Amino acid sequence: MKIFTSKHELQQYLLQCRQNGETIGLLPTMGALHQGHLSLLALARQQCSVTVCSIFVNPTQFTNPDDLQNYPRPIEADIAKLTAAGCDILFNPSVSEMYAANEQWHIDLGQLEHLLEGKFRPGHYQGVTQVVFKLFDIVKPDAAFFGQKDYQQVLVITKMVQLLNMPVKLVMVPISREPEGLAMSSRNIHLSAGEREHALIVSKALRWVAENFNGENLQQVTGEAIAMINAETGVVLEYFEIADGDTLLPATEANPHLIALTAVQAGKTRLIDNMIIR
Ligand code: PAJ
Repeated sequence: MKIFTSKHELQQYLLQCRQNGETIGLLPTMGALHQGHLSLLALARQQCSVTVCSIFVNPTQFTNPDDLQNYPRPIEADIAKLTAAGCDILFNPSVSEMYAANEQWHIDLGQLEHLLEGKFRPGHYQGVTQVVFKLFDIVKPDAAFFGQKDYQQVLVITKMVQLLNMPVKLVMVPISREPEGLAMSSRNIHLSAGEREHALIVSKALRWVAENFNGENLQQVTGEAIAMINAETGVVLEYFEIADGDTLLPATEANPHLIALTAVQAGKTRLIDNMIIR
């Protein structure tokens, strides 16, 4: 695997690849790689001839300085995982390589950035769009791969790509879960054994909703799921909503695409998860 820290060197190399007729697949990550990230890579390898994984803990998307400080950064282990999984290129830039001092700009994402995650993490999606815009501009991928785990992020990037006419195909990859149901996340390493046990209620409640929604009982299943999570000691519910799958606005049974999304706090760790209901 080739490793680049300089955007110019990466651009030079990719120019050559493109001239040789290669197609480029990008998977943006913040590292601490797990099976979820590697499932993005596996799909990218099927669809593109050259795969680029970026690892960059993007400061502009963190709303909590402690979270940024404590974000895991096991770069050697990540390099070993990417190499074993057949990734062609790792882009691992520094903050100064990606941002000018005091850089400030934003994209108007409309309501999407103020709903759900946006409400709890104001400014988060501006940081995400800033860094993903820059990564797309540097790598110019034919396709970019994102996880359904961060469903709202997928909608945000889709909106940015539409607004700015960016020539990239976006691919959403299903959520990878632990055998007991917990959605894989780089933050899971912060969970104690007890917290991990309590956190299982999140995927249980989502699965319960998916299995018990009958096309007419949206309010009822939402209420039951909220009650299930509230009854679990050790997790504090932030939100549980069934939303329109295209806009994330509040939904009724009439909406053709429905998704249940939730966020909880398990000890000091914030966990998000979702499930497509229809
Ligand atoms: P990160 O949390 O490292 O996730 C990188 C990619 O992996 C995202 O597209 C995310 O949705 C996907 N992913 C994470 N856990 C997953 C799981 N259990 N199953 C499937 N896919 C999963 O998301 C980010 O980084 C950042 O916001 C980023 C897009 C890199 C911008 O900084």
